[in-house]
Amino acid sequence: MSDLAALGGTPIRTEPYPAWPVYDERDIQAVTDVIKSGRWGGYPYPGPQTAEFARRFAEMQGGGYAVPMANGTVTMEVALRVMNIGWGDEVLVPAYTFQATAAAVMSAGAIPVIVDVDVQTYCMDPIAASHAITPQTKAIIPVHLGAEMSDMDAIMELANQNNLVVIEDCAHAHGAKWRGNGAGTIGHFGSFSLQSSKTLTTGEGGVLLCRTPEFAERAASLIDCGRPHDKAEKNYTMGANYRMTELQAALGNVGLERFPEQANQRETMAAYMDEALSEIPGVRILKRDARHTTRSFYQYVFAIDPEVFKVNNAVICYALEKEGIPCDVEYEAMHHYHLFLDYQHNRKQNFLL
Ligand SMILES: Cc1ncc(COP(=O)(O)O)c(C=O)c1O
Repeated sequence: MSDLAALGGTPIRTEPYPAWPVYDERDIQAVTDVIKSGRWGGYPYPGPQTAEFARRFAEMQGGGYAVPMANGTVTMEVALRVMNIGWGDEVLVPAYTFQATAAAVMSAGAIPVIVDVDVQTYCMDPIAASHAITPQTKAIIPVHLGAEMSDMDAIMELANQNNLVVIEDCAHAHGAKWRGNGAGTIGHFGSFSLQSSKTLTTGEGGVLLCRTPEFAERAASLIDCGRPHDKAEKNYTMGANYRMTELQAALGNVGLERFPEQANQRETMAAYMDEALSEIPGVRILKRDARHTTRSFYQYVFAIDPEVFKVNNAVICYALEKEGIPCDVEYEAMHHYHLFLDYQHNRKQNFLL
């Protein structure tokens, strides 16, 4: 035991992990070109870099009409607004996610209803979701968390039966596929974040994949200060400036060139982790659903059994950090947030975590 770095021993790894985001001459050139062009911002929307990014992003994900935006939170707010979901409406979100999933619902004026997750994947449990539906429920936001995907067959069936809009939160799922279909192309919308930590990044940024060109036109109006983007429409709608800039899009276009090789590398490393961790008693690697045909890896998530380790996950993370291995206990489950406590308590729900 005393060999652990946390107890004064020598760390297993002293070599730092590679810095992120990565860049090379292509990024520098792309940004330089935009600077020299004089067209830095997002107006008129979309600029040439942004239009190219939208086309190539949808191509990579395998479908949909892409509308690049300022980040991966407003993407979800805009998707709700496109469908006129707002005041008094309820939107199902999973308990285990970054708070942005619920915050976007509140920004649209609707109420996030927190639904428990499946312990095998930590993604929304479709059965718990079915129990949370009320006459006010208008949409459901499954989050594809870490390296997992929500059970999109069950979610879509539930949504179809109850006439709900599905917005996939794909902030962690660039390149992921479910039975060969790209994450974000299965529901009505797919919301992607391009924030600095994400596997495809433009520093800040987001993309909304829309199922129809009409949804995409309305989304483009909402993020472009309400300007009409439908050729037949002459009137402004209520909107704001959530445009992506040309500088961001230029980085995105180079990032897309790099992405396939990085995705392969992540898959190789994750397969190694799956094998190595499955030999350690008390460690549970998450279920690989056969329908999740292409994995993406924002985070490599695994569970530990505190009974076996005799300590909790915070202590294990601390010990791993001391060994030179980055580790995080990650999100606080959302029903613990003060922000949501009153409402959730009133609904008297029980949660797994
Ligand atoms: C699951 C999830 N949804 C949404 C977001 C929001 O993305 P952004 O920071 O681009 O607004 C994040 C960001 O980390 C996230 O992890």
